[in-house]
Amino acid sequence: MKLGICNDHAGVDYKNRLVQLLRDRGIEVQNFGTDTSDSVDYPDYAHRLAKAVEDGSVDRGIALCGTGNGMAITLNKHQGIRAGLAWAPEIGELVSRHNNANVLVLPARFISFETAAAIVNAWLDTPFEGGRHQCRIDKIPL
Ligand code: RB5
Repeated sequence: MKLGICNDHAGVDYKNRLVQLLRDRGIEVQNFGTDTSDSVDYPDYAHRLAKAVEDGSVDRGIALCGTGNGMAITLNKHQGIRAGLAWAPEIGELVSRHNNANVLVLPARFISFETAAAIVNAWLDTPFEGGRHQCRIDKIPL
């Protein structure tokens, strides 16, 4: 499993700590930035991650910004991306089980790091259920 991760200035600290968590789990991580707290525009990073998921250079992705919404809105412009915003571990579980989200989005300014880590672990550890959820996912593309 190879994961891509991206963030704006609001997500740098959590990104760095999540990269460590992921590597401790034996997961290869590609970092798409940003890596400083200088103000940046989240689409510049979201598009890089989305393209890497779409072209298969990473299997899945994690994106962080202040609310998570800028990243989610941008990522979901890509046909090959299902980006799901999660703010509690149960949502991290369901965004995989029901939505088969290939990018997990975290609102870094509104959750603790411990919650972010629990969400990531839940998302990674939960398989997609398929069945009726696959039928619904099949209806998403325009
Ligand atoms: C940055 O201040 C903030 O707007 C951004 O991190 C994010 O919340 C946008 O949706």
